[in-house]
Amino acid sequence: MELSRRTVIAGAAAAGVAATAVGGTAHATGGRKPVKELFGKLADGTKVYRWSLENGGTRMKVLSYGGVVQSLELPDRRGRYANVSLGFDDLDDYVASSPYMGALIGRYGNRIDKGRFTLDGKAYQLSVNDGENTLHGGAQGFDKRVWDVEPFAGGSDVGLVLHYTSVDGEMGYPGTLKAKVTYTLTRDGDWRIDYEATTDKATVVNLTSHVYWNLAGEGSGTIEDHELSIAASRYTPTDAGLIPTGELAKTAGTPFDFRRAKPIGRDIRAAHPQLITAKGFDHNWVLDKGITDRPEHIATLRDPSSGRTLKIATDQPGLQFYSGNFLDGTLTGTGGRTYRQGDALCLETQHFPDSPNQPSFPSTVLRPGQTYRTTTVHSFGV
Ligand code: BGC
Repeated sequence: MELSRRTVIAGAAAAGVAATAVGGTAHATGGRKPVKELFGKLADGTKVYRWSLENGGTRMKVLSYGGVVQSLELPDRRGRYANVSLGFDDLDDYVASSPYMGALIGRYGNRIDKGRFTLDGKAYQLSVNDGENTLHGGAQGFDKRVWDVEPFAGGSDVGLVLHYTSVDGEMGYPGTLKAKVTYTLTRDGDWRIDYEATTDKATVVNLTSHVYWNLAGEGSGTIEDHELSIAASRYTPTDAGLIPTGELAKTAGTPFDFRRAKPIGRDIRAAHPQLITAKGFDHNWVLDKGITDRPEHIATLRDPSSGRTLKIATDQPGLQFYSGNFLDGTLTGTGGRTYRQGDALCLETQHFPDSPNQPSFPSTVLRPGQTYRTTTVHSFGV
């Protein structure tokens, strides 16, 4: 976390803890083991646990259900903490009606046209759960699975290793997919996600994380004044069902140009057909850097009121920026307030939506013997 020494001390005082327990680099806790508690039980009696982690000034709570980030707390410029990630208090809310709040997404992030694709000449039909399409893995995606969670605290890092094995044919996808996701809080308070997967049959895979950010604090109102930059000269326009048309359209001269930071609200009401269809921003940005061996910085989000910033680095080729268009005031979050349209945004690092049906998009095929590996780093600051 990029904090001045003054901010660190003020933050510790505000939080009622010793300055050494919060810290930027100079004050890193250096590996306090994550703490586990029972969070709830599913209808079939399966226990769901919640893990609390803290390092480098960042505090996080993670559920074994869906790998959900239930809360993520950060200091503001005066050291006052707020939870900047939307979530619920009760497991029942996650099970009944969560729009993927804070969850891991798999096997395939975003949409696949009509839930159909052909691989090596064989046609597959997936679970359809978004009109006529498949969204975020189908009706029972990775966000609705209970993951095995192992904590670690080594060197200066703390974190969790999450495992889930998706059986051959689950939600219609071929192959037994063994997924491993590592959440690390670094000594600088960065949140790093390392995804890995292997398969025993050719399949498609596109894992991501679906945190809803509001850097002013969840439930505090709109994110339209947050400033966002995305290093992308192209994006993928969609049809009415939010399936990419296949075109890589230029962002220049359109509301989709975030190459220089601008408030999200500046152009969100422009009469652009793509904004009308999606009720705001809900598109995949084609990152200028393309696929890279290592995570590279691709987006910065800043809340002017609190001073909090989020920088995202990834090795992936795409970023789904979703401006919370379908939040409609019917869900009540951890702070007791309802979530309305535009009260949060998602920044999902990924391969492009519907890639299994788009031969010109980078491939999402995984074959036996290969290991799917990708990393995204969230760096926080003020
Ligand atoms: C999608 C939205 C969808 C949302 C689900 C986002 O990743 O792009 O279209 O409504 O997830 O809450």
